[in-house]
Amino acid sequence: MKTTKLLLLVMTIAVTLFVVMPNLSWAEDGAALYKAKCSACHGADAAGKPAAKIPSLTSDDVKKLSDDDLAKAITGTAKHPGTVKSLAADDAKAIVTYLRTLQK
Ligand code: HEC
Repeated sequence: MKTTKLLLLVMTIAVTLFVVMPNLSWAEDGAALYKAKCSACHGADAAGKPAAKIPSLTSDDVKKLSDDDLAKAITGTAKHPGTVKSLAADDAKAIVTYLRTLQK
């Protein structure tokens, strides 16, 4: 009887993890977030659109920013739409991590 309960508990935990894990990784998928929230303006390759005064995110200036400052620029740029300014800190961080891969 005891073994059955333990088995049930282990199964419950396993199923819960199985359901929750993909959602966790989705929340931190910087590439998907960038594509959905930033690429329309800054471009898929983050090169920006100089004609529309949208800065490149692969410039030396942006490379020099610390991760924190870059995350702050995402949520703190006045010209950004509300959907960008309201990004959760974790999501902004995930995007910063993705941007670093584009900057190489
Ligand atoms: C509606 C268009 C638009 C969207 C969407 C947008 N941006 Fe921007 N972004 C801009 C503009 C315009 C500026 C320049 C703002 C200024 O000059 O004050 C800017 C500036 C920035 C800067 C500062 C660059 C620098 O040189 O200091 C960063 C970093 C940035 N954006 C990142 C992002 C990221 C990451 C996203 C997605 C989460 C995003 N932006 C979404 C238009 C956009």
